[in-house]
Order: sequence, then C-alpha cells, then structure tokens
Amino acid sequence: MNLNEKKDIRILAFESSCDETSTSVVKNGSEIESLVVATQIKSHARFGGVVPEVASRHHIEVITQITREALAEAGCTWQDIDAIAVTYGPGLVGALLIGINAAKAASMATGIPLIAVDHIMGHISAGQLADTIAYPALALQVSGGHTEIVLLKDPTHFEIVGDTRDDAAGEAYDKIGRVLGVNYPAGKTIDQWAHQGKDTFNFPRAMIDEDNYDFSFSGLKSAFINTCHHADQLGQKLDKYDLAASFQAAVVDVLAAKTIRAIKQYQPKTFIMGGGVAANLGLRERMEEEIKNLAQPPKVVLPPLKLCGDNAAMIGAAAYNLYKEGKFAGLDLDADPSLELPYAADYQ
Ligand code: KG4
Ligand code: ZN
Repeated sequence: MNLNEKKDIRILAFESSCDETSTSVVKNGSEIESLVVATQIKSHARFGGVVPEVASRHHIEVITQITREALAEAGCTWQDIDAIAVTYGPGLVGALLIGINAAKAASMATGIPLIAVDHIMGHISAGQLADTIAYPALALQVSGGHTEIVLLKDPTHFEIVGDTRDDAAGEAYDKIGRVLGVNYPAGKTIDQWAHQGKDTFNFPRAMIDEDNYDFSFSGLKSAFINTCHHADQLGQKLDKYDLAASFQAAVVDVLAAKTIRAIKQYQPKTFIMGGGVAANLGLRERMEEEIKNLAQPPKVVLPPLKLCGDNAAMIGAAAYNLYKEGKFAGLDLDADPSLELPYAADYQ
C-alpha cells in the first residue's frame, strides 16, 4: 500500500431508538456499504402508535442477526471496522438500551472504539450520504418527535434556532391520519392523498407571522379534528383528498415560511432536510422551489426517501465526524431518552 494513501474509515452503526432496528457499515461518513432495516411497523399499527415494550422485544429478537447481515453485505469482518457507533438518545429508553448494549458488547469483545450518536444529529447527517455539505449549514429537522430548525456551525456543532412548542409535524400527521382511518405511521398516505386534492378548508397557519423560528401544530390538529367531527354530526361526508391537501398545505406553508426566513438570516452555504417528514414530496418540492428563488440560494441537500426515516447509515455518517475529532464513548455509556441538541445563544 502507498503510505501516503489515506486509510478508509469504516464504521459499523446501530440504531434502535424507536420502531426500526437497523445496522449499517458506512465508509468515510459518506458511502453506504451495507444497510439493514428491520421494521416493526406492522406490530404497532393495530395500536395506532409505537408500544415501547413491544418495540424493545422486537429489537432484541433481530439485533444479533442484522449485525451479521450488515457485516456480510459490506463484505467485512470485525477486523475491517474502525469504530462502532450507536444512537444513545433521544428515544424510548428500553429500545435505546438494546442497541447500546449490542454496541458495547461488540466493542468490549473486539476492542474496537465506541462512538455515541445523538439521533437528531444522525437524521441531519443523512445529508452527508447524499452530497457534500459546506458549512455553516442550516437544517430543517422534521420527524415524529421533532420539528426544529438547526444551525450547523461545523460537522459536530449543531444548535437549535427554532423548535415546536407542542406537537411535532410527524405527530400531527399521525394524529389526523387516525381520524381519517389511516394506519400509523400516516404521513406517506396523507402526502399521497394531498396530491389528489385541493386546499379548500383553509386551516390555521399558527405562528407563521411571528418573529421567531418556532412552530405550533396542535391548533391545526384540533381544527382538523373539529371539522371532521362537526361534519360527522351533520351526517356530511367530507372529501378525504381535500382534507389531506388542506392539512398538508397548512403544515408546508408554515415550515417553508419559517425556514426561508431562517435561511435569509443565517445565510448558510447548505440547506439540509432530515427526519421522516423530510420524505414528504409536497414539502420537498416547495422547499426546492422557494430556495431557487432566493437572491443567494444555499445548496439544497435532500437525503433520498429511504434515508429520511430511521436508519443506521445516518448514525454511521454522524459518527464519522465525531471519530475525526476523537470523540469516543466509554463502556459506561447509558441511554439518554430526552437528549436534546443545545439551543443557540440567540434562541428566544
Ligand atoms: O424520523 P422518523 O422515521 O422517526 C422519528 O424519529 O420520529 O419519522 C417518522 C414520522 C412519522 O410521524 C411519519 O408519519 C412521518 O415521519 N412521515 C411522513 C412521511 N413519511 C413519514 N410525514 C409526512 N409525509 C411523508 N411522506
Ligand atoms: Zn428518527
């Protein structure tokens, strides 16, 4: 080997914070060599949401098998792995502990160093798997538990500049989905229906004109549910496609308005979207369109749809940045279910 040749860094990553158990081998923080996702969606759908105890049991059942699969698919043995990464929060404590203990056991048995990754940093770092990121960057992080505008000063320093005051966007999708009889998680189906309907209900766009980057979706959710219940009482049948289109228009209007204002203030070099709701086609189209029209548009990085939801490749991507800075975890690593990114100093 040429001694000047840079050694590739391979990270084996674990993700088990909610209802997907996932393992992945990621090369140099940007190239997916393998990705295995064992989803539990069917087990939770009949309960209308994730049942924590059921989630933990499923994680235990598959984690050993999918660790072997991720290594085999990447054509690797443990000798090829430079670090073992794992999500340590936020998430369901029992679910997180399965991934953490698998990662710690592997690290202890092999001597390979351990890296602890924040799940939200992971979602945003999924952008790295799609394209190169120039810093500072700004991210819109939209998932089942989070709706945040995040400023990335560099690959490992992320700060919240906007946050939801109540429900997360994905949570609102799932709650109104229930009213429409759509199984959990409802976002994808509502998105498809929205493309077949029109915004006729004019639902509220909460906080859209407020001078901050925060969001609120619980008023929209209540307005939606009241509209449906009221129609039920009158024996009227509302068009589900128009309902979906009206709900999505309200969500997308607020997300786009606030994010564009944040882009104008912080002037990032790259704009990234992350989280399950970043797979929303209406939101993706709208953000690309609005950013294109800016005087100084940042580069737009939208991870492919399969990397928006929970997966271990995004954890491997984030872990690479920590690896380069020598930020390793000890074998005393514990789950932090309510882990949060820090708020920016100017967050109001
Ligand atoms: O990031 P994720 O997989 O898990 C969390 O960390 O929360 O996000 C799951 C959320 C669910 O609420 C789901 O309904 C939503 O993402 N979601 C969508 C779409 N696909 C998934 N929401 C809107 N449009 C979509 N296409
Ligand atoms: Zn997630």
